[in-house]
Amino acid sequence: MEYGNRSKTRWSLVGETALVTGGSKGIGYAIVEELAELGATVHTCSRNEEELNKCPQKWQEKKFKVTGSVCDVSSRPERENLMETVKSVFQGRLTILVNNAGTGFIKAAEEITEKEYSFLMATNLESAFHITQLAHPLLKASGGGSVVFNSSLAGLQGIENLSLYCTTKGAMNQLTKSLACEWAKYNIRCNAVAPGAIETPS
Ligand SMILES: NC(=O)c1ccc[n+]([C@@H]2O[C@H](COP(=O)([O-])OP(=O)(O)OC[C@H]3O[C@@H](n4cnc5c(N)ncnc54)[C@H](OP(=O)(O)O)[C@@H]3O)[C@@H](O)[C@H]2O)c1
Repeated sequence: MEYGNRSKTRWSLVGETALVTGGSKGIGYAIVEELAELGATVHTCSRNEEELNKCPQKWQEKKFKVTGSVCDVSSRPERENLMETVKSVFQGRLTILVNNAGTGFIKAAEEITEKEYSFLMATNLESAFHITQLAHPLLKASGGGSVVFNSSLAGLQGIENLSLYCTTKGAMNQLTKSLACEWAKYNIRCNAVAPGAIETPS
């Protein structure tokens, strides 16, 4: 098979339903487009309504089936609202979850404030854990599915002034491995990807 002439039949995702968090720009945007191009119906979210609203128009032009709603994944009630929306959009069934939304900052460990600690843990780790928990009944209702965590090389190695970011991604890797063991019985695969530095608009 030629990579440049990817076989849509071999790699078809027609009939699959996917939630990709943080799909209005950057890596998440590319994931949304890739899944939609392969035929999946996708829902995505981000915090900035104006930016998010610009996306469906572009996706409609490409005939992609993508919807979006505003959600700050660091907020527990907003995560619950998001999953209610997803449940309704996909009639209670989800087959792909990509926990992509995340952020980071460069700062000496000794200078990180309590607020910054809570913010990064909630955005990068707690959100992925809770959204995956919320997605569980929808994945099970589909007879199984795939959960992908967008981790980072920073979760595999120590990096100066990125200790907190590295911690969130390292914990995400452990979460992935444990869930992979725990949810295999439901036919739910759990994997993490660990990108290196990727230039995005943010
Ligand atoms: N770029 C890299 O070099 C790199 C390397 C390794 C791993 N990663 C990981 O890849 C993921 C995506 O990174 P990126 O570089 O593509 O980031 P990005 O360009 O900043 O885009 C992040 C996306 O997530 C959304 N987002 C951020 N915080 C959110 C929140 N609290 N709730 C909902 N949506 C939120 C953003 O929209 P709003 O701002 O409007 O909410 C945007 O759509 C992150 O988990 C990151 O840690 C990135």
